[in-house]
Amino acid sequence: MTAVVATADTDLDLWLAQQTEKGLLRLLTCGSVDDGKSTLIGRLLYDSQLILDDQLASLRKESRNRTTGDEGIDFSLLVDGLAAEREQGITIDVAYRFFSTQRRKFIVADTPGHEQYTRNMATGASNADLALLLVDARKGLLTQTRRHSFILSLIGVKHVVLVVNKIDLVDYDPDVFSAIESAYRAFARDLGFETLQAIPVSALKGDNILEKSAHTPWYEGSQLVPYLEEIEFATDRTARPLRFPVQWVNRASLDFRGFSGTVASGSVRVGDDVLVAASRKPAKITRIVTMNGDLPDAIAGEAVTLVLDREVDISRGDVLTHPGETPEYSNQFQARLVWMHDEPAFHGRSYLIKIGSQMISGTITGIKFRTNVNTLEHIAATKLELNEVGTVTIAADKPLAFDAYGSNSRTGSFILIDRISNATLGAGVIDFGLRRAQNLSYQSFDVSRQVRAELKRQEPSIVWFTGLSGSGKSTIANLIEKRLTTDGRHAYILDGDNVRHGLNKDLGFTEADRVENIRRVAEVARLMADAGLIVVVSFISPFRNERRLAREIAGDVTFTEVYVDTPLEVCEARDPKGLYARARRGEIKNFTGIDSPFEAPEHPDVVLRGAEKEPAELAEMLYGKLFGWDDVYSI
Ligand code: ADX
Repeated sequence: MTAVVATADTDLDLWLAQQTEKGLLRLLTCGSVDDGKSTLIGRLLYDSQLILDDQLASLRKESRNRTTGDEGIDFSLLVDGLAAEREQGITIDVAYRFFSTQRRKFIVADTPGHEQYTRNMATGASNADLALLLVDARKGLLTQTRRHSFILSLIGVKHVVLVVNKIDLVDYDPDVFSAIESAYRAFARDLGFETLQAIPVSALKGDNILEKSAHTPWYEGSQLVPYLEEIEFATDRTARPLRFPVQWVNRASLDFRGFSGTVASGSVRVGDDVLVAASRKPAKITRIVTMNGDLPDAIAGEAVTLVLDREVDISRGDVLTHPGETPEYSNQFQARLVWMHDEPAFHGRSYLIKIGSQMISGTITGIKFRTNVNTLEHIAATKLELNEVGTVTIAADKPLAFDAYGSNSRTGSFILIDRISNATLGAGVIDFGLRRAQNLSYQSFDVSRQVRAELKRQEPSIVWFTGLSGSGKSTIANLIEKRLTTDGRHAYILDGDNVRHGLNKDLGFTEADRVENIRRVAEVARLMADAGLIVVVSFISPFRNERRLAREIAGDVTFTEVYVDTPLEVCEARDPKGLYARARRGEIKNFTGIDSPFEAPEHPDVVLRGAEKEPAELAEMLYGKLFGWDDVYSI
């Protein structure tokens, strides 16, 4: 066998020519280690007898200057979905091989099978039309088989061939084949594949690769290569709406200003009306510039510089689109996320989100569930460990332009990056936007309480506990804070422990000091609510006047006055710190309930009878009332 090793340029030209045809099928091979992928690929290359270059990946190093400017060739021309990862400097252990038959051309992305290479699989698969999922006939379905299948469904691969390999090693036993096929069909039922074909194969011996094997008279389906030649699939990325993420603003000379990037999807022509996705500012395309001269149009995959007919404020990360076909523009979305790092993903932690050329910081605001890839079960989770897949909500610090992955894989996928180490931590596909931000560009964007609250996906509020010392208010308040936090809400408690020792350490228990104590606490609570938090305040706050003041300071922030009504006798009998006894002995002055008044609230929002129920039960009831279980509990 002689391999024709073509020069990079020849290959690229060839590929570009083919790109405009429909005959290119992007394949992905996956499966476990030792399932025989390399053998299968070798077999496909050998049998097709048309090896052009089995290492297209080398193109990347050798090809330069195709794009405007001096950036190297955009390898995403070949297999896209990789641009973001490449810029991140990740080594992608995916090898691309290219072969063709009389009827079709194929690009094969080969990924290692071990579990920790999930990442490679996700990146390699992101533009595949069909997956060859290898199973060793002797071993049957393994966790990796299921995991890879799940990721295939995640990234929208619609066609799967279950290659039951090494069928020769089980003596071409039809029962082995049909057991594997039916187990896989049962597993894959809900994965949304449009076609699924199981083929008994020996990559080594060539059974059922090109021609029907004499060893498997019981198998009546197609052989692998004919099947791949005939399967119908939709590839026309140029039919999709235009997405042109601006990589950089090109100011080649004083009178030249263009926007450089790669057409992610769709096509664009000179004369087209376009819009900036974020600002909705319109313009017309006057030129499409490349190193090799101007073009009348550009299609998905082409790196060009667009010149507009007017001055429009556009910077790196902006997305150009056609009017009426604009992407979602929002700061929140739901996504399915594959976690790729040893440090687990937590909600609340801040990461950099990269979608195309847009990079914005944001947080995972919630993990809805984790998916068990073996059973496809949804499991409650508070974090995602290495290789785990979860459905999450993500909030960015400002709006991003994106699409649902199902409608556009380029603008519907993202990676999360560690802000310090710059490592890629996870890759995700967007299900849908959660809230449409109204045309905000960050210049015109006022960071308001509402915006901060939206990022935290909660309504800020102040829950103000009042009651005697020993009434149980701090115990209940602490339980409420804990419960809020475990439910993924952002809460903070203010009580004597953290305020009187610091901010208010200059204050004692005279009437004047208590008034000032409560005034400061009310102001701090208000600031914290402005910052988007749910603030749980627990002070005796014995005077009506100051409690009213606290409510006024809260302004339009929801303020709930919770009176923990525990009779003085009960508090005194509890006397957890021995203070009542000391007050009775006259060692402490101005003790509330003894020689300083407690003005019980006249119209509290909630009354908790602290002598009648345990703090945990009261906390649960209050939580239900304030944060969502109203119909379950009544107080
Ligand atoms: S408040 O009246 O200004 O709201 P705050 O809630 O901050 O009072 O502090 C009350 C706590 O301080 C009590 O639970 C108790 O542990 C301690 N304490 C010390 N001296 C007094 C006092 N004279 N009166 C009430 N509480 C006191």
